[in-house]
Amino acid sequence: MPLPPLLQGRLTLPVIASPMFILSTPALVIAQCKAGIVGSMPSLNARPAELLDPWLTEIETALAEAAKVPGARIAPYAINLIVHASNDRLEHDLAVCEAHRVPIIITSLRAPDAVVARVHAWGGIVFHDVTTIRHAEKALEAGVDGLVLVAAGAGGHAGRLSPFALVSEVRRFFDGPIALSGAIANGRAILAAQAMGADLAYIGTRFIASTEANAAEGYKQMVVESKAADIIYTPLFTGIHGNYLRGSISRAGLDPDNLPTADKNSANFGTSRSKPWKDIWGAGQGVGSIGEVLPAAEIVARLAADYAAARAALEHNAFAPRPGPAADRMIHALGGN
Ligand SMILES: Cc1cc2nc3c(=O)[nH]c(=O)nc-3n(C[C@H](O)[C@H](O)[C@H](O)COP(=O)(O)O)c2cc1C
Repeated sequence: MPLPPLLQGRLTLPVIASPMFILSTPALVIAQCKAGIVGSMPSLNARPAELLDPWLTEIETALAEAAKVPGARIAPYAINLIVHASNDRLEHDLAVCEAHRVPIIITSLRAPDAVVARVHAWGGIVFHDVTTIRHAEKALEAGVDGLVLVAAGAGGHAGRLSPFALVSEVRRFFDGPIALSGAIANGRAILAAQAMGADLAYIGTRFIASTEANAAEGYKQMVVESKAADIIYTPLFTGIHGNYLRGSISRAGLDPDNLPTADKNSANFGTSRSKPWKDIWGAGQGVGSIGEVLPAAEIVARLAADYAAARAALEHNAFAPRPGPAADRMIHALGGN
């Protein structure tokens, strides 16, 4: 699928760095965009709300400055808006985004009917984040430009579907831009997302272990040291299933293997006393690919090198016969020489 015109020729890799509560701030967004991938942050990370306006100015000023360098590829930035009755900042934050004509809005939770027309009026585009086919259909009815498909294994409120199933089913009724997320943390996985039918990889967890992420050093180190088996999928902390680091759950005094039952009717559903995101640290199953904390620009450079190597290897090996004893035996069994 062609990328939206806004993204054509502006990226060094087909990647959107996903918005992460608390962790993404202007420093990270600027570093990601300057490295040539879409950088993003939730509007709610600007606290108090009055901070959002100067933060957007800071991002725009830095990116405009970086764009003056001849040959620079500077990606546009995105802001994530939570479309839900509980978000009493939505109107305020949308108005600030309107004043700044934010190029890309990423909406989460409810189908963003009212938001889409406003964003289109200032020339922006809307990607909506979904975990199910039903929600993808609803978002398309609302007129969004692209979908973010959040598959199993993603950091934060991950879905349950295999990325193969999710992308294939959505591609049966949507040929517009798709960003795929869920444990994409190296260049091979970016290429795999494209091979699967997505246009862009949507990457969060890899950037928790970045110098610029607004996270405690202990959190970054835990991401580096954890493996996929250390990711616990539970609705206990927010009422919606999400992926969290086992070590942070233990540190909060809970047994990750025997968490209180998340019974929707029980008093503790979604109301654990430990604060999700602040004490209970979110991360996806891609943690096992992460070896060290690095500046975002270096992470993007390594993703790009790995992506290029994966492409070259695939082209080189594609459908080539693989010699060796097993292949020889099979040829012999089939009556060949
Ligand atoms: C710590 C953390 C916080 C997140 N906060 C948000 C958020 O505020 N809004 C949102 O739309 N997605 C949020 N996400 C989900 C990401 O945007 C994205 O779907 C996910 O990180 C992609 O999967 P990956 O982490 O396996 O790369 C969060 C993810 C993490 C790990």
